[in-house]
Amino acid sequence: MEESIPAGSVKLKETGSLLTGKFTTATDVSDIDALVKKALEYKADPYKDSQLGARKRIGLLFLNPSLRTRLSTQIAARNLGMEAIVFNVDKEGWQLEFEEGAIMSGNTSEHVKDAAPILGSYFDILCIRTFPSLVNRADDYSELYISEFIKYCGRPVISLESATLHPLQSLTDVITITEQVQQRSADFKGRKPKVVLTWAPHVKPLPQCVANSFSQWMCAWQGKSEFVITHPEHYELAGEFTSSATIEYDQDKALKDADFVYVKNWSTYNDYGKIFENDPSWMLSLEKLQLTRQARVMHCLPVRRNVELSDEVLDSTHSIVTQEAGNRVWAAQAVISELLRR
Ligand code: CP
Repeated sequence: MEESIPAGSVKLKETGSLLTGKFTTATDVSDIDALVKKALEYKADPYKDSQLGARKRIGLLFLNPSLRTRLSTQIAARNLGMEAIVFNVDKEGWQLEFEEGAIMSGNTSEHVKDAAPILGSYFDILCIRTFPSLVNRADDYSELYISEFIKYCGRPVISLESATLHPLQSLTDVITITEQVQQRSADFKGRKPKVVLTWAPHVKPLPQCVANSFSQWMCAWQGKSEFVITHPEHYELAGEFTSSATIEYDQDKALKDADFVYVKNWSTYNDYGKIFENDPSWMLSLEKLQLTRQARVMHCLPVRRNVELSDEVLDSTHSIVTQEAGNRVWAAQAVISELLRR
């Protein structure tokens, strides 16, 4: 694997690229604002680089379901003139083995060591989605699947969501906040936006990926926001992703004067993959939003209505989830474009 560089640091000097050669974490990005700018330029003019990817192919490999990631990444690639091919590995492919030295006498039929180089010979860029097991924290947090894939495929890799992170979503979220701040510049004169990530109830244990990733990007987007995370006790995220975040267990306190409220459920990290809390009072309501500065409400989607987020909030003018999901295209286009230029 390539060595990562600190996010938000200077542009990579040798290549002039904004990425290390892959896109799996915020630390693959040398200049977040420059990547956001690039994405917003594509939003303004989607076909301005319509020949950049001509005669090139991108492979989108899914080991788990998707709506937004799958479609937005295909659209982004096509806007750049690339051929995009989706392969639902979980349903249509051989079950892959990722363990080095595995004795493959169980359910797995093909080792990533054999499959990845072949895929690398078919495609110019490879993208992969691999969710965590939520059973073994050490395995999930070692990012075994995506790391093995990167090791053996020999191509630039884009994470479509891995065991611990969802960088395309987080880049999208930074784009959306930037866009909102630009559109309402008078509201933000002389101050940074207050961004609150709040835990919400859910019926199933969900991965920490979106929350980890959002926090990682907010911390890497140095000095651009006042970032607060609020959750019940025992829902602490991994410290490696929350370095400069303020943690506040009182949701009302956290919401005070917020400009953006990012709603997401996650299961426990410390006692791994559990649901310790399902108090519906953690669900965001219009009443709670009164504490904020008319905050815009974000969510990566899909969302369970009236469990994780109420109809009254999702259907109100606070919600920017559709704008946010729409921006997935421009985030993917900026990332693919950077990898094509290398
Ligand atoms: N937000 C997100 O990644 O959506 P999908 O799971 O539908 O791709």
